[in-house]
Order: sequence, then structure tokens, then C-alpha cells
Amino acid sequence: MAPKLEATRRRIDALESDPSRKNSFVPYGIDRHSAQVELEGRKYLMMSGYSYCGLGGDERVVAAAKAAVEQYGTGAHGVRALAGSTPLHEELEAEVARFLGRESALVFGSGYAANVGTIGALCGPGDTVFIDKYDHASIVDGCKLSGATVTRFRHNDPNHLDQRLRAASPDGVRLVVVDSVYSMDGDIAPLPELREVCDAHNALLMVDEAHALGVIGRTGRGIEEHFDDTVHVDVKLGTLSKGIPSMGGWVVGSPDLIRHLRYHARPFLFSAALAPAQVGAALEALRILDREPWRVAHIQDQSAKLRAVLTEAGMRTLASETAVVPVVAGTDEQAYDYATACRRAGIIGLPVVSPAVPNTLARLRIAVTARHSEADIEFAGQALLEAARECRLIPATAAV
Ligand SMILES: Cc1ncc(COP(=O)(O)O)c(C=O)c1O
Repeated sequence: MAPKLEATRRRIDALESDPSRKNSFVPYGIDRHSAQVELEGRKYLMMSGYSYCGLGGDERVVAAAKAAVEQYGTGAHGVRALAGSTPLHEELEAEVARFLGRESALVFGSGYAANVGTIGALCGPGDTVFIDKYDHASIVDGCKLSGATVTRFRHNDPNHLDQRLRAASPDGVRLVVVDSVYSMDGDIAPLPELREVCDAHNALLMVDEAHALGVIGRTGRGIEEHFDDTVHVDVKLGTLSKGIPSMGGWVVGSPDLIRHLRYHARPFLFSAALAPAQVGAALEALRILDREPWRVAHIQDQSAKLRAVLTEAGMRTLASETAVVPVVAGTDEQAYDYATACRRAGIIGLPVVSPAVPNTLARLRIAVTARHSEADIEFAGQALLEAARECRLIPATAAV
């Protein structure tokens, strides 16, 4: 064990050589009424949060969480199959299904659990899962635990998926799993082309909408709406911890699918139900999102503006077209330097380094939320460019 612990210590010590370079596990003081956080007495604009719809501190959501605690107490008292189901859990599942236009839904303890549980319940030895190279770790872990054969295809490359499906065994379940929006790149899966390939090879298509709910589609309903509801997904799943500011994961589909998951998804069967406060908050946030689609439009407008400012000045934002705006710095060390310079300029932009991303494409993962005002986004753009000039990522003369 010792060599492993020592290797971790050396790597983290090198990246965080002084306190101003420490970016992970920093206990930011959160002001739930703004997009600002506090650190050591100074306020910063948080530009790396995941609360896309800006509802984390919303009075209505907070009140709903409190009301749920008042009525049901703090814990769920067990797994859903035994003592853990309350009317509130069922209300949330009905709301998730309604919001996403499906007949049924199931809510898990987290998005991670939803992926692991769903893949494991649908596939096992003798089946094949085809995953995009950039799929989230919970999809990868779900595949490993399922015991199915796992095949990776190149990122957002339906032709490569086609080749992989041709080469694979025709027997058993063939499940293709992609993220709707990729969490580190902010690009969107090419759903129509993927659907075509799946249909040609008798494969099921599952999407993880973790970064899509509340973010893409005209009203934030995710990837099907983004493609004008012309393409159907077989299994849709996501989290209640990003656009919806709570905890939990969800799956929507046919009543048969949901019944199967209830009885076979192990993280659902063997892990406690969501606590009432989380359920109450998620339910209220979904209802607000339904009534306030301006949040989605705001995220889309402001992230497009931010991308334009950055790319015009010569920064790379890769193929981002969503609220997730990666700003490439280069090596892991450059990303840490850039994050530190951004902090000096007044914003928190957290670095994403290898092995999460290739070590030539280490970046700040910037995210635009409905909590950011237009002035916040302008400020963030200026700060990102000022820091980029300081780190020599762009010439000192680059336009702001
Ligand atoms: C694409 C994707 N799927 C699933 C998850 C897991 O969601 P949760 O945090 O609810 O476990 C995440 C979280 O980062 C994610 O980015």
C-alpha cells in the first residue's frame, strides 16, 4: 500500500506547491442568494458550480425541503423495497416521468447509482455494452460490475460505433450508452446518427442526461428536445444533483422497464431511499423549472456569449455548445497556474487535469448557470482573459 500512498502524496504536493494553488477540497463559503463564494475573507464569483438552473438557494426549494423534514423527519428509514418508500418519493417519480414525457420513473440515491443499477439490471454476461470513450465513470463502473462485454467507441463517432456493432457478437442484449452532454467538454451526443446506427444493429440506446436536464432543449428537457423530439431514446437517466439542486438519480421509461429496475437494480434494492429533504427539494425544483423556462434560455444565451468572448481572444473552448465551457490551458501544471491566476482576478474556475482529461488538454471547467447575471458573465470573461494573458496562454495584447 505504501508506494500507492506515497505516489499520491508526491503528485498532489507537486500540483499544490503553495496554498494559493490548492483547488480541490476547498471549503468555499456559499452565499445561497448569489453566485459568489467566500474564501479566506474574500468574495469570488463561482464559475465552476453545477447548479445550472440557479435554484440551489431558491426560497421555494428551501421551503419545500423544510416542509418535507417537518412532515417525514430526516431519514428514509431504509431501502425503498422495505420501509423507505413515502408518498413523497412516489410524487417525485410521477413528476420526473411527467416532466420528461414518459410513463414511469424510478429515483435512485444518486446519478452514479442510477447508472450502475440500470446497466447492471439490463446487461450481464453474454450481453454487450457499447460506450463512448468519454462516458462518465459511473457508466464505466456499471459496465464493469454488470459482467457484460464492454466495447468502447471513439468520442461522438457514430461510424466507429457502427464498426464496433458489426464486429460484436449478435447475441444477447446490445446496449449503447452515451452522455447527452459531456461533462468535461460540453459537447452534445449526435443523437440522430446514433439512433440510426442502433436501429441498424438492433441495439438499445441509453443516454445519461446529467448535464442536459435544465440545460439543453428549448425548455430544458434534454437531448430529445434539443433534436426537436424527432429522435427517441430507449432509456433516459440523469441526476437530481446538478440542474435540480438536490441529490438522487432518476430513470424514465416504460412501466415494464421501471418495474424490472425496481426488482433488479442493486443500488436501488440495497441502498437507503433518498432522505425526505432531498425529495422535497427535487420535487419543487422540477416544478419551478417547468414554470420558468427562462432559466434554460438564460443559460444558453450566456454560455454562447462567454464562449464567443473567449474564442475571439484566442482561447480554446473545444467543441462546447452547452453550459459547460472548457477553457484549455495545456498541461496539468498550466491548468493549476491558470486557476490560481483566475482566483487573483476574482473568479473560481476549477482545473480538470489528467487522467480525467488528456494531459495536453488540462483545462478549467467553467459552467454558466441561471444564477449568473449578464454582468457576472462579462466579469468572468474579462477575468478568464486577464488570467490567460498573465499565464501567457494568449498574447498580452489580445483583445478583451
Ligand atoms: C455524466 C454524469 N453522470 C452521472 C453522474 C453522477 O451523478 P451523481 O453526482 O448524482 O452521483 C455525474 C456526476 O458528476 C455525471 O457528470
